[in-house]
Amino acid sequence: MLDSDYSKLHKNDFGSDFFWGVSTAALQTEGAWNEDGKSASIWDTFSNKKRKIYRGHHPKIACDFYYRWEEDIQILKVLGIKNFRFSLSWSRILPDGTGRINHKGLDFYKTLCDALLKEGITPWPTLYHWDLPQVLEDRGGWTNREILGWFENYVLVIGKELGNRGIHNWMVLNEPLVFTGAGYFLGYHAPGKKGFSNFIPAMLHAALCTGIGERAMRSCQSQINIGSTYSCSYIVPKTNSEKDLSAAKRADALLNRLFIEPACGLNFPLEDLKVLRPVEKLMKAEDQKNLKANLDFIGVQNYTREIVESCWYVPYLKARLVNAKKRGVPHTEMEWEVYPESIYEMLKKFSKYMPEKPLLVTENGAAFPDHWDGGHEIKDWKRTDYLQSHIAQVQRAKQEGINVQGYFVWTLMDNFEWAEGYKPRFGLVFLDFETQRRIIKDSGKWFSKFIS
Ligand code: GCO
Repeated sequence: MLDSDYSKLHKNDFGSDFFWGVSTAALQTEGAWNEDGKSASIWDTFSNKKRKIYRGHHPKIACDFYYRWEEDIQILKVLGIKNFRFSLSWSRILPDGTGRINHKGLDFYKTLCDALLKEGITPWPTLYHWDLPQVLEDRGGWTNREILGWFENYVLVIGKELGNRGIHNWMVLNEPLVFTGAGYFLGYHAPGKKGFSNFIPAMLHAALCTGIGERAMRSCQSQINIGSTYSCSYIVPKTNSEKDLSAAKRADALLNRLFIEPACGLNFPLEDLKVLRPVEKLMKAEDQKNLKANLDFIGVQNYTREIVESCWYVPYLKARLVNAKKRGVPHTEMEWEVYPESIYEMLKKFSKYMPEKPLLVTENGAAFPDHWDGGHEIKDWKRTDYLQSHIAQVQRAKQEGINVQGYFVWTLMDNFEWAEGYKPRFGLVFLDFETQRRIIKDSGKWFSKFIS
């Protein structure tokens, strides 16, 4: 296929049972941060601190989805989107982290799921998309081994309370590398902890929770399709020098292999990431077997590729990513290179892990600055072009026999993009955060037409 010749892109080539959808997350959209009995999550606390989030933005109201979900379901309907991925807020359901159930919080999800099903839209809830209850963070959060029990208890509550309502598709964790890496190693995401002494236990516990969540959910529901989602980027060494090749290998182990391999019953890739070896001291005898998760599908989340070079001054990893803007290549507002083949390469790589299980692209999308003149249109051709070129690469993977069964755009509507606040807009729907007005962008219209 020629660059930007997408005339050969046809929905029919993906098959009639292919899942076309959009993804969102509770913290990024719901708002109502302390309403109806919800307690604070680590992101509510973190965004109250100075200089953590772009221009002091906070997720207190976000897209006000907690109150406007009916309008948003109507938008899904208008767009003909039949699969909706969202996440459940732990601190809305269990404000103390464990124990007492907040029925008002739970009812929100019951009502939402019932309404989606009534409209013929399949709910795809993610159990954990980064918003740990602050009360649990006060007890060490992901670094405390007790989280294995807290998480299991939370999932069992969901399984028992929501499991019998016709919801069959679930995801355990959203991108464990990002919430442990950015939250417990680099500290630029909530809860803002840093260093190996935090990262290594958080990494082990998040990896164990994949299997714990899968088994707990399965114990509540017989007809279930449960996966977990993984961030990944196609890694390319800057040069063919020994040094860059080995830097790229380490980056690949960290960014692409660290969580999926233990979930498959392999070890953490410690051969290529020796610096993580102290994890072995934290592991109990039963951990090795419990790391394995019997996932029904793997959620692949890809946005870009990374060029990696050896770098002596980067502690431990001795490698760095060469910024796309500095390389002068096409990039999004996140400064992520637009490189559609990356998604194809990642589908190929991940298809080898559990060959008998399908892959779903549970996130792919792009932030570009949108210009709104106050009218009814947003001409975001760059986003449309991004989606077309990436979907074409998913099609290429499928044509080569890779078992990919779905594609979810990140995201339905512009929302709270973590430390970047509301600046990067990823939505198919534009949001005027002052008035909460929603406007379907041209990319949304294109996606709608394509999947219709
Ligand atoms: C993630 C999350 C989303 C992001 C999206 C764009 O991968 O970080 O799943 O919450 O908003 O990826 O950065």
